[in-house]
Amino acid sequence: MKRRTLLQASGLALGGAVMPKLTLAMAGGRDQLDRAGYELVAAPGPAQLVDGGATPALLYNGGFPAPVLRVRQGERLRVRLTNQLPQATTLHWHGIRIDNAMDGVPHLTQPPVLPGESFTYDFLCPDAGTYWYHPHMHSVEQLGKGLVGVLIVDEAEPQPFDTEVILGLKDWRLNRDGSFMPLSDPRQAFRAGTLGNVATVNGRQRPTIEVPAGGRLRLRLLNLDNSREFNLSLRDNEATVIAIDGNPVAAPYSLDVHAMASGMRLDLGLIAPSEAGVEIPIYDRKGRFHQEICRLRTVPSKIDSPRRGIAALPANPVPAPDLARAEVHRFVFEWAGALSPTLADGSSDRAFWTINRRGWEGISAGQLPAPLAELELGKSYIFELHNATPHSHPIHLHGLIFTVLESDQREITPFQSDTILLQKNERAKIAFVADNPGRWMYHCHVIEHMKTGLMGYITVS
Ligand code: C2O
Ligand code: CU
Ligand code: CU
Repeated sequence: MKRRTLLQASGLALGGAVMPKLTLAMAGGRDQLDRAGYELVAAPGPAQLVDGGATPALLYNGGFPAPVLRVRQGERLRVRLTNQLPQATTLHWHGIRIDNAMDGVPHLTQPPVLPGESFTYDFLCPDAGTYWYHPHMHSVEQLGKGLVGVLIVDEAEPQPFDTEVILGLKDWRLNRDGSFMPLSDPRQAFRAGTLGNVATVNGRQRPTIEVPAGGRLRLRLLNLDNSREFNLSLRDNEATVIAIDGNPVAAPYSLDVHAMASGMRLDLGLIAPSEAGVEIPIYDRKGRFHQEICRLRTVPSKIDSPRRGIAALPANPVPAPDLARAEVHRFVFEWAGALSPTLADGSSDRAFWTINRRGWEGISAGQLPAPLAELELGKSYIFELHNATPHSHPIHLHGLIFTVLESDQREITPFQSDTILLQKNERAKIAFVADNPGRWMYHCHVIEHMKTGLMGYITVS
């Protein structure tokens, strides 16, 4: 019953080819929350992504996009995962300051969920924002083939928007008939990562999404791709940045170009033009490269939003680090260029990328690698990061929210995040209070990079 409610709520149907919804725009949308919790079934199934044929994808609840899960800040989210894949899986809740036992990392925080098994995730969501969920094993294949979904934690107090538009960005590597090309090309894995060739937003190629004319819009953009970096931009800087990677910015500012690498998110506020039929394209723009991702189009509405500016979202209860007393740790991200590994489609154990000269050696039930750092609960830390490679890396830390303090390549107004995008040769500083005990993964979110060495974990106790 619960499952049926959820499937209906997310506009998906069981069995057969599933037509993705054109838009996940929802006014309010709170009625779609089943407060008793959610069921997610991971299983192979067809997704209609290209005209040439169905794609043999891996799906949650038989469709793409996967159900959008919602919970209110300060409440518990309960999700029962059932694994109907032919291989083990887990669910990781990206960006949540979660109970470590619910973090979804195989062998580190829980045993893998084997085919035919179920596991119930049940955890508190202390911070409001735009988050997502995905497996944390066989990631090149499981994420690459569709196991990615959106998790929204609504602010404790409703925020003044008329319409919410969720834009989940993901590229696919497909042949014309919809079948998958190899998901990883070894030569690309050791560069920027293997890119897809079919770009989608909510499972649709370049969709047009209808929004109410004059409406006050909240756009939630998520990079659910394994490798691609989007440089988001709207015409005439008409949108306002209100949250980065789920975390509200203290002073909203007008969007110029925002780099959103794998795993990262961006919340924008926007007051739609009051005339119907106006189109607002959203671009990926870097230098002369300029590609439309999707567009919004206004439709007649009764809404007449006061054309005041977009206000800041309420801050999340993340403790502020004590910079004067913080302990400093240094991390260098490098490559061991002499290796010429062969990356099998879907996985590799060969280290190529390193953190402080160590490549991730893998993890199994009996063998836990040593942590990259051991932190003390409640203490403040500064991490000095150095990307000593000619490629960019979105460095992600589980279970903790850090403040990005400074960079040697760009002017930074400090902001909170769970992922910092380090450009080639960049040095940056982040700081946080180690307020959440457990073993927390610390890795690059270019999935092939994490699979080939750029991964480790820290402990907080
Ligand atoms: Cu999306 Cu280990 O993370
Ligand atoms: Cu994560
Ligand atoms: Cu990387």
